[in-house]
Amino acid sequence: MVDLSVELSEKLLLKNPLMTASGTFGYGDEVTDFVDTNLYGGIVSKSLSLNPRVGNPPPRIVETPGGMINSIGLANIGLDRFLEEKEEYFHNFEGQLIVNIAGQEDDEFYTILKRLDRVNWVRGFEINVSCPNVKKGGIQFGTDPDFMFKLIAPMRDLTDKFLMIKLSPNVTDIAKMAVKVQEAKCDAVSMINTLYGAAIDIYTRKPKINTVIGGLSGPAVKPVALANIIKARKAIDIPIVGIGGITNGDDVIEFLLAGASAVQLGTVHFFDPLAVVKIHQFLQQYLESQNLNTIKELIGKALI
Ligand code: FUM
Repeated sequence: MVDLSVELSEKLLLKNPLMTASGTFGYGDEVTDFVDTNLYGGIVSKSLSLNPRVGNPPPRIVETPGGMINSIGLANIGLDRFLEEKEEYFHNFEGQLIVNIAGQEDDEFYTILKRLDRVNWVRGFEINVSCPNVKKGGIQFGTDPDFMFKLIAPMRDLTDKFLMIKLSPNVTDIAKMAVKVQEAKCDAVSMINTLYGAAIDIYTRKPKINTVIGGLSGPAVKPVALANIIKARKAIDIPIVGIGGITNGDDVIEFLLAGASAVQLGTVHFFDPLAVVKIHQFLQQYLESQNLNTIKELIGKALI
């Protein structure tokens, strides 16, 4: 038997490196009728804010060559409903639950963190400083290294749980942002969130999504994600969770070789919701075929 487990911190062991990307898998419990969610090492929830949000007006999602653009606007059920409705599912979930937190100001993040720190079925946090689709919060926090540091540095005192910051590729130097995450004593970075993108309907002559510009994800962004991970890997020692256009097992191996310790599947869920089944099987077969006992051995190997 090969060992697919990876460690993101002493506090967070994943039975395999496959996680869901926030916003592409709901809260996990919506899909249990057709996919075994226990195949994931971890679920990252849709971004959670203190109060429910309806998000941006539709149309807020559009397909593009090799990907899609979304401008959901952080629609979510809010903290209270999350705590009331999701406990039963996550008590039985065999992987790790990471809650993605979005706030409009510092205190909103801190309040959610403090409340969820007391919840035993929440194993860690992904802090969203990179959503490109809201006027307040989101990427506003994640483009200036010092500004982001001011937000995230106090978080370490609020929780001992796993703490990861999700970075935007829409910056000049993502490595500088990653260094700030490490200086703030967070456990990991996840990257990349979406790239700014737009699409226009030539017959209506109007933008295809309501907010005109949204976030591009999917296979089209994979090489951008890999390049950003490689840049960050050289600058920091803490683990990186890779995100960006992963559709199959080959992609997962590529991200690990580039220096990611785990990965998140995102846009693939929209066109192949059972991708995790195939990818999980592929990882085992790949290790066996390569005479490797553990998947950890692959992390960063392309950079040595
Ligand atoms: O619009 C959205 O809810 C997207 C969030 C994100 O990209 O982080």
